[in-house]
Amino acid sequence: MISVRVHVRTAFLAFLFIGAPTAYASSENAKAFAIAKKNACLGCHAINKKIVGPSFQDIAAKYKNSTSANALLKNKIQKGGAGSWGVVPMPANTKLSDVELSILVSWILQGAPSNN
Ligand code: HEC
Repeated sequence: MISVRVHVRTAFLAFLFIGAPTAYASSENAKAFAIAKKNACLGCHAINKKIVGPSFQDIAAKYKNSTSANALLKNKIQKGGAGSWGVVPMPANTKLSDVELSILVSWILQGAPSNN
């Protein structure tokens, strides 16, 4: 009986240490997805295929080794423009807050995972 309780407690502690960061990561992903959906990003961008704009996975691959990607992409999403992928421009997204831009860019640079 005692050993069962110890086991349950160990499992619970393992959940706290291993489970909690995973839950946090997936809720950040869910938040990013909701912002992207609300702002019509997903009308032009898909996770893994080109629509009007490049896929989020292609964007992640392109900036994989870039140290300035974060600032560059926040600015690009906010102001819009063309030239990185072709001649078709992305419209400006002036209503996004700095926090929302950061959430979106870090999610996109991870390849836009849907959870975990
Ligand atoms: C009307 C279509 C459209 C919408 C809506 C749109 N995009 Fe784009 N997006 C594009 C196009 C086209 C490009 C390629 C621009 C270029 O070649 O520089 C692009 C490029 C990007 C890039 C890469 C920029 C670069 O310089 O490499 C990111 C990141 C991005 N979009 C994120 C977003 C996010 C986040 C949203 C929503 C807030 C969004 N886009 C909404 C069409 C769109």
